[in-house]
Amino acid sequence: MRYSRIIGTGSYLPEKIVTNDDLSKTLDTDDEWIQSRTGIRQRHIAAPEQETSDLALMASQRALASAGLAADDIDLIVVATTTPDMLFPSTACILQDKLGIHNGSAAFDVQAVCSGFIFALATADRMVASGMAKNALVVGAEVMSRILDWNHRNTCVLFGDGAGALVLQASETPGILSAHLHSEGQHRHILNAPGQIRDGRIHGSPYIHMDGGAVFRFAVRVLAESTLEALAHNGLQPADIDWLVPHQANARIMDATAKKLGVPPEKVIHTVSGQANTSAASIPLAIDYGARHGCFKPGQLLALAAVGAGFSWGASLVRWG
Ligand code: UT7
Repeated sequence: MRYSRIIGTGSYLPEKIVTNDDLSKTLDTDDEWIQSRTGIRQRHIAAPEQETSDLALMASQRALASAGLAADDIDLIVVATTTPDMLFPSTACILQDKLGIHNGSAAFDVQAVCSGFIFALATADRMVASGMAKNALVVGAEVMSRILDWNHRNTCVLFGDGAGALVLQASETPGILSAHLHSEGQHRHILNAPGQIRDGRIHGSPYIHMDGGAVFRFAVRVLAESTLEALAHNGLQPADIDWLVPHQANARIMDATAKKLGVPPEKVIHTVSGQANTSAASIPLAIDYGARHGCFKPGQLLALAAVGAGFSWGASLVRWG
């Protein structure tokens, strides 16, 4: 086997929905500002007792059902998350146990914030393609609501909770065509949650801080650049993209990226309005949305691209079906 391919998708959004109007009751903001700046209408928020691994579990069970596999067929779990259940063990290990998988196969987390799913997918793809695993569960899951300062309108209106999962299987034909990953740690001050645990206490702010304008400009540049890099690597052109599946941070970032690439709006998967930015979960949530709505046809080319704190970013091309 030289490749991996996607054989199942699943996602989960918590029941509780918080609209922009709901936020405007406690914050100096309004639906018009949020929608016009971000395209976001509402976000889902996890219940207090729901951990990241619980959201991941629901998405994974749905992905396994769509793949027609039993949990025990999975021999690799990679979870991308910025909001793990606990410092350790990994959310992937907790998910493995909750799925009832006790076959001793590998499970670990990947941390690349909003670009985490692209990093997780690249890792799992190469492990499956090289024969280290046959059936991998690749998950993006977040409870961003737990690291937001709900009194800070510049950040809290932007994010939501959710999980998405894909099942990758070893294959003679692609599948995942390639992945292109990048990081520039010198930009880490632009977007971070700087709190540290030391001496049994949190030191520094545990909440998300960002320079929104700087993130916006960086995101539009690198989402387009990394997509072009992936296309060039495979001898393809932007016109070959059937579906652009960008990280769902902000509708304006996605529109600007699509425009730079010359991809028409009807070929871009948009889920941000109903879900807000779910960080590492946004791409698998968007893929599952596209799959379940019958958007993707066998043989079509999907271009995935994400950027997040670090900065870290990347793109991956996928042949569907
Ligand atoms: O995965 C990556 C995560 N981060 C992102 O995706 C963020 C990327 N950046 C953005 O999406 C945009 O920069 C924002 C949506 C965050 C901000 O949009 P903007 O058009 O760049 O607005 P701004 O930051 O220039 O703020 C304009 C004004 C400010 O007021 P003053 O200083 O001009 O009086 C803000 O205080 O809008 C104010 N503002 C708000 N007003 C109402 C900021 N947040 C809000 C709000 N409601 N929620």
